[in-house]
Amino acid sequence: MKGWTRIIAVGAFGLLALMGLTACKGNKAALPEPAAVGEPAEGGTAMNVQKQPFGRTPEGTAVEIYALTNDKGLKARVMTYGATLVSLEVPDRTGKPGDIVLGYEALDGYIKNSPYFGSTVGRYGNRIAKGKFTLDGATYRLATNNGENHLHGGIKGFDKVVWKAEPARGDGDVGVKFSYLSKDGEEAYPGNLAVTVVYSLTNANELRISYEATTDKATPVNLTHHSYFNLAGGGDVLGHELTINAEGYTPVDAGLIPTGEIRPVKDSPFDFTTPHSIGERIAQVEGGYDHNFVLRGGGGMIDLAVRVYEPKSGRIMEISTTEPGLQFYSGNFLDGTITGKGGKACLKHYGFCLETQHFPDSPNKPIFPSTILRPGAVYKSLTIHKFSTI
Ligand code: BGC
Repeated sequence: MKGWTRIIAVGAFGLLALMGLTACKGNKAALPEPAAVGEPAEGGTAMNVQKQPFGRTPEGTAVEIYALTNDKGLKARVMTYGATLVSLEVPDRTGKPGDIVLGYEALDGYIKNSPYFGSTVGRYGNRIAKGKFTLDGATYRLATNNGENHLHGGIKGFDKVVWKAEPARGDGDVGVKFSYLSKDGEEAYPGNLAVTVVYSLTNANELRISYEATTDKATPVNLTHHSYFNLAGGGDVLGHELTINAEGYTPVDAGLIPTGEIRPVKDSPFDFTTPHSIGERIAQVEGGYDHNFVLRGGGGMIDLAVRVYEPKSGRIMEISTTEPGLQFYSGNFLDGTITGKGGKACLKHYGFCLETQHFPDSPNKPIFPSTILRPGAVYKSLTIHKFSTI
């Protein structure tokens, strides 16, 4: 695919807008086929990117959704609200595609009640103790939106803003680039932070998410992706087998703030250096898994972080990242009050998150790798989800 030249016909756009709004009223009908904005890849393959309207925020801002398709049956739909992954269709061992991320069919649910389904999380993913940190002699007080702590960027984090979007391949074969300017003082963070996130698919069956950010004042930055995966496409995830490339993890206090210790996983339910199902030892972990693992790689080079195998579907997902940490969250706070796609209730452990990141509360933990971005430097982070089956 060379160049994004096709123009969307205004008539088709209007019609799709209408249908998009209908979907927001809870109509569960299949989404209309979107207008193409990309050219078929060279060689006449199906790989492309398409966009369509996806409703409006309560303030009236238009939201769009992009559908990315590769040649191997991988399809990702990402929307401008929260730069959110809305669906991810991956073939099972028989070749049958299934959506492997939790979420809603329409925008409305994401706006009213989403536990960060598929979101881009920022300016700081995970927790900052008591919403407070000191940087270059100044003390900053952020919202305490999770008990006494700050979580996932605050009241209106990057998951709740509308991003600009344009087709862009990034380092994949087909993709979309989201941009957002987080103003100086937004959610009380210092500095104008210009952020881009590119979602792309490759024909090697990868979903790549790459981030860049620059600032005009020193600020903490920790961006991550918050999909709730279920490789079986439904039911609980306790049978999924995980191998995590980590010999240590960061234990937490009652408010899920790391104590500062890096504890070996050996001889504990946190040892996933060999494959274990999520359910095997979860009862030994108070509240379930919601912990940051210290990855073996983590030096800024792309390295395998985790391999997930789901025996019923045969699906495998391998996540590689440049980040030093991985938050493994086993969907402990899902309690059935959310009715998601297909009218199905999201019960406890019906999805799990694998959030590649720097460690929680790093601005208050000088021994953890620094999350401070300074003017002149470029924040870069890459996470690759690779799919296969056995
Ligand atoms: C956190 C959980 C939190 C969840 C949804 C995860 O990243 O680790 O503690 O409940 O996000 O907010």
